Amino acid sequence: MDKLIVHGGHLLEGTVYVSGSKNSSLPILAATLLTRDKCVIRRVPDLSDTNYMVQILASLGAQVERASGMVTVEADSIRSEAPYDLVRKMRASVCVMGPLLARTGECLVSLPGGCVIGDRPVDLHLRGFEQLGAEVKVSGGNIHVKASPDSGDREVNMLGKHGSTVLGTDNVLMASVLTRGTTVIEGVATEPEVVDLTEFLIKMGAKIQGAGTRTLVVEGVKELHGAEHTVIPDRIEAGTFLVAGAIAGRRVTLKQADAQHMQGFIDVLVQCGYPVEISGAGDITISRIENPRGAEIRTEPYPGFPTDMQAQFTALLATVPGLSTITENIFPQRFMHVPELARMGADISMEGPTAIIRGTERLGGAPVMASDLRASAALVLAGLMAEGSTEVNRLYHIDRGYEHIDHKLGMLGARMERVKVTG
Ligand code: EPZ
Repeated sequence: MDKLIVHGGHLLEGTVYVSGSKNSSLPILAATLLTRDKCVIRRVPDLSDTNYMVQILASLGAQVERASGMVTVEADSIRSEAPYDLVRKMRASVCVMGPLLARTGECLVSLPGGCVIGDRPVDLHLRGFEQLGAEVKVSGGNIHVKASPDSGDREVNMLGKHGSTVLGTDNVLMASVLTRGTTVIEGVATEPEVVDLTEFLIKMGAKIQGAGTRTLVVEGVKELHGAEHTVIPDRIEAGTFLVAGAIAGRRVTLKQADAQHMQGFIDVLVQCGYPVEISGAGDITISRIENPRGAEIRTEPYPGFPTDMQAQFTALLATVPGLSTITENIFPQRFMHVPELARMGADISMEGPTAIIRGTERLGGAPVMASDLRASAALVLAGLMAEGSTEVNRLYHIDRGYEHIDHKLGMLGARMERVKVTG
C-alpha cells in the first residue's frame, strides 16, 4: 500500500492534459460484450478500475488486448457468470449485467458490497430488469437474472428516492438494445458518461432515440456489430485539477477537457471569484486569488453540481474566508474526508448531509487516511498549500480513478513523493 507525502507551499504553473473518463470507459467496455465482433475503445485511462474491467471481460471469455490507452475486445463466445473475486473489488462491475442479459439471456453476478460513501444498492437496476420482463433472484450474495423469452413493448422507470441512477440506466439500456420490441425508459440519468455510452451503442447499430434527455426509446435489433470509439474527457479529473489551480495555482491550464460537461462546478468557482478562462480551443485556465468568496453548494444529478466534486470543493472551501456550506443529496454519508481535513485544522461541522465550513487561514500538514477515490484526491489538494507535509495513506484509493495524479501535479510544480509501504 503506497502513501503520498505532499510538501505544502509550492505554487502550481503550467499545462495538464486530462485523461479519458473512467466513468465512461467502464460501461463502454462492458458494452463490447454485446457483439461477437471486434471493438476498439480509445482513451481508456490506465487505472486499477479499468484494469479490473478488462480482467472481468477476459474472465467472461472475451479476447482483450490493451495497448496504453487503447483497448481491443472481441467477445466471440462468453459465459454469463461474472467472477466474484473480481466483481467484489469494483462496484461498477455491476454494469456487465445488462450486456450479459442481452447477449446470453441471463447473468449471475455477485451483489456489490457497499463502500465508504454509503450503501450502494442496486434495487433500481433489478426493478428495471423486472420491468423488462426478466426474472430476478437474489440469493447467497448473488444476483441471478433471466431474460424474458417473449418479445413485446416495455416501459421502464429508473427513478429512485435520490433521483435517477447512472449505472442503473446503463444496465437497463444495454439490456434493452437486443430485446425484440420497443422499450421506453423514463427517468434516465443524463450524465455525459451515459450519453457517451448511448453514442457507442448507436455506433454498434443500436436504435436509440433521446440521448441526453430523461427518456430513451429503444427499438430492439437482432444483433449489434463492432465499432470504434474514443471516450469523452474525464470531467471529474479535470475538475480536480481546476480545484488544485484554485488552491495553489499561479496559473494552471487544462487541455483536452470538455468545459460543457463541467459547467455545474465551473459556475461555483466563478461565483467564488476565481478567474476561470475557457479558450476557443477548449483550454481551461484558472489561478488562485487573494480573497475568494465562500459558496453554498448542493450536489445534484447532472447538469447540477456533481457529488464526485464535493470532497474536492470541501478541501478548497476549508481555506476560503467566511462561511460555506455543502449539502450532499446523492450520497448523504459521503463525508469521510471531513474528519481527515479536521486533522489538518479545517473547521467543518456537520448538520445531517450538510457540511458547514468556516474558512481558516491555512491548513497544517498531517498524516491522513484516504478512504474513497474523491476523498483521497481532496486530501492531496488540501496538502498542496498546507504548512509542512501531508502524508496521504492508502493511496490505492486514488489510483483507482486518477491516472498518475502525482506525476501530473508534479509536472505543475507540486512537491510530492510516493513511498512504498511494505507489510
Ligand atoms: C456513478 O455511480 C458513478 N460511478 C459515481 O462515481 C457517481 O458518484 C454516481 O454515479 C453519481 O453520479 C460510475 O459511473 C462508475 P447512482 P452509480 O446509481 O451509478 C441511489 C466516482 O467517484 N441508488 O447514480 O453507482 C444511490 O444510492 C464514483 O467516480 C439506489 O437507491 O451511482 C445514490 O444515492 C463514486 N438504487 C443515487 O441513487 C440503485 O439501484 C445515485 O447513485 C442505484 C442507485
